[in-house]
Amino acid sequence: MANMSNLEMAKAFNLSDFDNVAARDPFPTYRMLRENDPVHRNADGSYFLTRYDDVVQSFKHPAMSSDKKIAFKPRFGDGPLYTHHTTSLVFNDPPIHTRVRKLLAAAFTPRKLAELEPVVERVIDELLDKLEALGDFEIIEDYALALPTQVISDMLGVPEGQRHLLRGYSNLILGALDPVVSPEGLRAGEGAVLEFEEMLNELIAKRRENPDSSQIGEVLSALIFGEVDGERLSPVELVQNCIFLLNAGHETTANLIGNSIDMLLGAPDQLQRLRDDPELIHGAIEESLRYQSPLQIGNRKAMEDVVFGETTIPARSFIHCCIAAANRDPAQFYDPENVNIARNPNRQIAFGLGKHICMGNTLGRIEGRVAIGKFIQRFPNLKRNGDAQLSPRVRFRGFDKLPVSVT
Ligand code: HEM
Repeated sequence: MANMSNLEMAKAFNLSDFDNVAARDPFPTYRMLRENDPVHRNADGSYFLTRYDDVVQSFKHPAMSSDKKIAFKPRFGDGPLYTHHTTSLVFNDPPIHTRVRKLLAAAFTPRKLAELEPVVERVIDELLDKLEALGDFEIIEDYALALPTQVISDMLGVPEGQRHLLRGYSNLILGALDPVVSPEGLRAGEGAVLEFEEMLNELIAKRRENPDSSQIGEVLSALIFGEVDGERLSPVELVQNCIFLLNAGHETTANLIGNSIDMLLGAPDQLQRLRDDPELIHGAIEESLRYQSPLQIGNRKAMEDVVFGETTIPARSFIHCCIAAANRDPAQFYDPENVNIARNPNRQIAFGLGKHICMGNTLGRIEGRVAIGKFIQRFPNLKRNGDAQLSPRVRFRGFDKLPVSVT
């Protein structure tokens, strides 16, 4: 590669060879592609988009499909993973998507979110008390993952004794979406769908018998009984989208929290600025979402020819929409490689855009703001304590381990 020009390097890029090491710091590669081959064609014929305007267009264009029924068939056959993923909101197009999204919106009304905010505050305060007593700890396991697990458990009404199971389910179900999966990985993913289904079916049966016994923040009754134009979620849609809510809101939120702490530790002037002016927490979370987007790459399939800049992407092409690269495009963001928690405007697109824009974006922002705001105020002596370890996955950006000391 030493004598290759940037253009040649960009043309030679192949997403399926983008290895675990490169994935730990993908940003120089994204920049090289954006500058030299922004509508890049991979060896398998799929396209990789890195410019802000192109990624925005890929999310908003009416000819872009998210439906995975054909793509997932050879992978998952007729098994539980196929049922799960092809029923999940995110992998459907209108009219199914439109109807199911309206019904799921019952879980994210301003009233439900207002109920959840004190739940988030309480969970954070309890976690911080525990961490303070420890002095040295690891942020991802001890803090970042614990919050979304509690919040989603509250939303679905999962009893205390079963909450510890959810993270394993989520890992096994999402793990089966990796590009290469062993037969054991597939079986484990299928087992996780079936077990989680059973748990949810029991909870749903109890709520059907006793609709008014919901706890604060719980959304299950609203999802069971909610109607739009006289229609409810079917039993399969209900269960599979409850599973999807855990998967969609779990690792992404944990990564937002871990990535935000890492970002602030890497930019001590910005951390100090936030301590001096806690109101900047809104901007700090937006900047974290921009700078190290938890979901780095989305996907679409073009259902007709679509023009991106000077390139026409032909109908039936598979497209990788690189949110992480778009969020560092200098055509949209001033000085994009540097952290500025007061950035204004900050039109980051970490939650996607258009009809599939993240339904949990307000909740995720609340969780991020409360978790980070309270954390840095509580721990003025926060510092790193050993090597952080980034997860090797290309699609999600987050840490497996982020050890710190607060004494
Ligand atoms: C905090 C970090 C989060 C990030 C960065 C994030 C990111 C995203 C992105 C990029 C999409 C769009 C995918 C696409 O267009 O293909 C999405 C969709 C979705 N997210 Fe999130 N998400 C987060 C948190 C959450 C939470 C907390 C929940 C719920 C508890 C949630 C629920 C959903 C749902 C239901 C969809 C599907 C929307 C649709 O297809 O219409 N997300 N998310």
